[in-house]
Amino acid sequence: MTTVRMKINGRAYGPVTVRDELTMNDFLRERLGLTGTKFGCGAGQCLSCAVIIDDPDGTSHTSPTCIVPAASFNGKSIRTVEGHATNGELTALQRSFIDHFAFQCGYCTAGFLNEGQVLLERLAKTPVARADLEKTIVDAFDGHLCRCTGYFKYHEAVRDVILADPGRYLT
Ligand code: FES
Ligand code: FES
Repeated sequence: MTTVRMKINGRAYGPVTVRDELTMNDFLRERLGLTGTKFGCGAGQCLSCAVIIDDPDGTSHTSPTCIVPAASFNGKSIRTVEGHATNGELTALQRSFIDHFAFQCGYCTAGFLNEGQVLLERLAKTPVARADLEKTIVDAFDGHLCRCTGYFKYHEAVRDVILADPGRYLT
């Protein structure tokens, strides 16, 4: 057993004791009721279960939760799909996903949304040339599987957000 504390979507959780074999996915879904984080392959192969980890140095990255123990997230600050909208106001990326009909069953959507948000925040700090944008988006979404094959629409959705504010995201 391990006692953990973490911040999730800006809210402090813990101290709470978890079994060492409890995955972060089960902790979020079963213990905290945050069911927006999905469980797909359960093998670290699809990233439908990915959440955002905000590191102390100001950078962020995603991590699968299906194969990672909740205890490994002790002390970390994370964001899940439930943490994107503010008072019911969707983010630009969420609106773009809807505008593009980017998802069908929606099972992969939280993972793509988290990855796309990390990309937007990274580009806001380190813009890229327009010529490199398509590859940048492809690289960012690498590893995210969509069984409904919504890849191009996800790509278009995040690209539209970037192109709508080129002074912020592009050099
Ligand atoms: S459910 Fe975690 S990577 Fe597929
Ligand atoms: S929308 Fe169904 S798996 Fe991606």
